[in-house]
Amino acid sequence: MTVPVLTIDGPSGAGKGSVSRAVAKKLGWHYLDSGSIYRSLAVAALKHHVDLENEAAIIDIAQAMVLEFDCGDELLVRLDGEDITAHTALEGTGNIASIVAALPEVRRVLLQKQKDFKRLPGLVADGRDMGTVVFPDAEYKVFLTASAAERAKRRYKQLIEKGNDANLARITNEIEERDRRDMERKTAPLAMASDALYIDSSDMALNAVIEEVLNLIR
Ligand code: C5P
Repeated sequence: MTVPVLTIDGPSGAGKGSVSRAVAKKLGWHYLDSGSIYRSLAVAALKHHVDLENEAAIIDIAQAMVLEFDCGDELLVRLDGEDITAHTALEGTGNIASIVAALPEVRRVLLQKQKDFKRLPGLVADGRDMGTVVFPDAEYKVFLTASAAERAKRRYKQLIEKGNDANLARITNEIEERDRRDMERKTAPLAMASDALYIDSSDMALNAVIEEVLNLIR
């Protein structure tokens, strides 16, 4: 029996997480937050005090790390049995994630971990290369974006709500730098799949985006 897959790709802070979780919940499908896998690798690298230039050591960690995810209202992440959810959410973790995610061998090692999420009754997969590399045969594909200024504002709000320190100007710079790194890397860069539905959510309410994605599937 084929497993239906919906991929939602796009740049940082476009709302992929909120939309994906809501759509997965509505459909009763599984949810893959592929960014949290790269974020967990970043946390693991920091924990082991590994130099980010030390590619061989990063690859070893990617191979050895045991990840568990619990998808309730928030996604809970456990690394080797330890709850690292609070660490994965930090903006700095996202930046380190985008550095280790640019290593081709790291992406190869983490590919199967992501494919394993594809199970009945269906999967919503969010990331940068879900529709292009990890699930190129997905039946439903979305490319969700928003202006950099709007994405920075949303990220700022999210961090403040979670009780973190945040600075809008710094977040805007970091988002632009991360966009550049994610789009310019050689392996699996952030790109829209040719068969994806393009949604610019800059002036859209979250519910309107969720409805548009659900309409694609109905
Ligand atoms: O989506 P999120 O901000 O959690 O992702 C963190 C980083 O992980 C991204 O900036 C990107 O570099 C990397 N990533 C990736 N491929 C994915 C998901 C995330 O390279 N499918």
